[in-house]
Amino acid sequence: MAVVSIPDKDKVIRDEREITDYLATIGIDYERWGGIKDVSADASDSEILDVYSDEIERLKVKGGYVTADVINVVPTTPGLDAMLSKFNKEHWHDEDEVRFIVKGHGLFHVAPPDGDVLSIEMEAGDLIRVPRGTLHWFNLCGDKTVRAIRLFQDASGWAPHYTDSGVDAGYQPVCFGVSYIPMV
Ligand SMILES: [Fe+2]
Repeated sequence: MAVVSIPDKDKVIRDEREITDYLATIGIDYERWGGIKDVSADASDSEILDVYSDEIERLKVKGGYVTADVINVVPTTPGLDAMLSKFNKEHWHDEDEVRFIVKGHGLFHVAPPDGDVLSIEMEAGDLIRVPRGTLHWFNLCGDKTVRAIRLFQDASGWAPHYTDSGVDAGYQPVCFGVSYIPMV
């Protein structure tokens, strides 16, 4: 289950329906894919794509995506820091950023044009669609591991356009994790 945090409001959302509804207000689709898939999180990329083929086809029809692949990031991935530094600054893309997490974690920050900056901590089973043009940035969590299915309308449209706003520097990339207990 994802965890949404709105630091400026001191608010954390952990309820699936609340998360879905809140993200919808800023144009972001969130889905928690139910059902147990008979596949290991360490299966080959093609096995992962095969097992989730129905869901991938549904998203392709809905969003006009033409290709899907699997990205694998582990702490020992060569050039990891350089790779991350491309995405941890506020940017936008000419196409949607669609990710379904198979393993590990990812932390998206989103800066809505007229709202509070929020973070979305993703774990296995979480799908997110960040629409084209949305200002956002991405960090890994402490496990430095993320395996995700990606969908593309046109892979060439996925190059980041940086805003150089510096907004990202004002928000710590905090991952709460499953053991996080909200302070009240
Ligand atoms: Fe991005």
